[in-house]
Amino acid sequence: MRDVGIGLIGSGFMGKAHALAFAAAATTFDLPIRPRYVVLADIDSAMASAAAARLGFARSTGDWRTLVADPAVELVDITAPNALHEEMALAAIAAGKHVYCEKPLAATAAAAERMARAARSAGRITQVGFNYLKNPIIALARSIIAKGEIGDVVGFRGIHAEGYMADPATPWSWRHDPAGGGGAIADLGSHIIAMARFLVGPIAALTAQMSTVVKRRPVARGSAETRPVAVDDQAQLLVRFASGATGTIEASWIAPGRTMQLAFEITGTQGSLAFTQERFNELQLYRAGGPAGRQGFTTITAGPEHDPYGAFCPAPGHQLGFNDLKTIEVRDLLLAIGGAGAGGPDFHEGWQIQRVVDAAILSARERRWIEID
Ligand SMILES: NC(=O)c1ccc[n+]([C@@H]2O[C@H](COP(=O)([O-])OP(=O)(O)OC[C@H]3O[C@@H](n4cnc5c(N)ncnc54)[C@H](O)[C@@H]3O)[C@@H](O)[C@H]2O)c1
Repeated sequence: MRDVGIGLIGSGFMGKAHALAFAAAATTFDLPIRPRYVVLADIDSAMASAAAARLGFARSTGDWRTLVADPAVELVDITAPNALHEEMALAAIAAGKHVYCEKPLAATAAAAERMARAARSAGRITQVGFNYLKNPIIALARSIIAKGEIGDVVGFRGIHAEGYMADPATPWSWRHDPAGGGGAIADLGSHIIAMARFLVGPIAALTAQMSTVVKRRPVARGSAETRPVAVDDQAQLLVRFASGATGTIEASWIAPGRTMQLAFEITGTQGSLAFTQERFNELQLYRAGGPAGRQGFTTITAGPEHDPYGAFCPAPGHQLGFNDLKTIEVRDLLLAIGGAGAGGPDFHEGWQIQRVVDAAILSARERRWIEID
C-alpha cells in the first residue's frame, strides 16, 4: 500500500476536523492508500508549529507556498478562509497536486470556474467539503427518490439556519469580508443548495431577497470600535429546478436557538421526505396509500443497512456524529486518488453550487428572476 502525503493549510475548526478525518478514514475503512501527515501551514510559523505538533504533522511552515512546493505533498488540503481558496488551489494544481478544499469553493462563481477548469485540464482529483452530503441517511433519501418511492418530486423546501451571528456583539471576522463572497448565503446557503442539487437536481432559475440585520460589528469582542457589515445575514430564495419541481431555500446565521437546522422537506406525488441535521441519524418518510386512520410519517433510524454506517458501528441507532461525515468525505477522496472511486463533490460541482449562490446575490441586488443555464 502506498502513502499519500498530505499538506494541510489552516488548523482552525475545519483544519482539525480534516486531520481527525484522515486518521479515522485510515482505520475505519479498507483503503488502497494511506494518508501521511507531511506538513501543516498556518498564518505564522509559531501557530503552524504548535498545530503540527498537536495534529501529528512532521513539518510546519508559516508560508503556505512552501507547503505547495514540497515534493512530499501529493494532496493539498485547504481549510483557510474563503477569500484564499482560489489562489491556494490554483497554485497547488499548477504544482501537480490533488486538492481538497473547504466550501464554499470560492468567493465567486468566476473564481470557482477557474479552479474547476484548471483542475480538469491538469487531470487532478478535487473534492469540496460539502460533508452533509456524505450522511448515509441522505444516501438513503437519494435512493428513495431515484427508485420513485415517493413518486415524482414536485417540491423542495430547504433551509440552513444557525444562530452563531445572532448576537450583535459577535465580532467582525473573515466571514463578514465581502472579498470572501456572500455572508449567510455563502457560508450556510451553499450547504442547502448542495443538498437541493444532490437530491432534486440542477436549479434552473431563482429569485432572492437578502438582508443585513446587524449593520456594524465590533472589530474584536468588547471593543467600541466597529466595522460595517456588507454581506447578508439572511437570504430567502424562490427556486425552480430543471426538472420542473419548485421550492424555497433559506439561509440565516442570525436564528437564535438554531444550531444546525440544515433541513428540508421534499414533496413527491406519492409521498414526502423530511430531514433535519439537528437529528441527522433520522429520516422521516411518508408514503401515500396506507389504510385510513393509520397514515403518517415513519421515522427511519440510521443503522448498518445504510452504508457506510456499519463501518463505524455494527448496531443501529447508536448514531454517527459530525466528524464521521468528514471521515466518509475523506474516504471518498482517498478512494478517488487511489483510483478506486469517483470521489466528489468535485470542483466542477463546487462551481455549479457557487453559480447558484452568485445568482441569488445578483437577484437580490437587482430584484429580478435570474435564469441559470
Ligand atoms: N464543511 C463544513 O461544515 C464547514 C464548517 C466550518 C467551516 N467551513 C469552511 O472551512 C474554511 C475554514 O473555516 P474554519 O471555520 O475552519 O475557520 P477558522 O478561522 O477556524 O480556521 C481558519 C484557519 O486558516 C488559517 N489561515 C488564515 N489565513 C491563512 C493563510 N494566509 N495561510 C495559512 N493559513 C491561514 C487560520 O489561521 C486558521 O487556522 C472556510 O472555507 C469555511 O467556509 C466548512
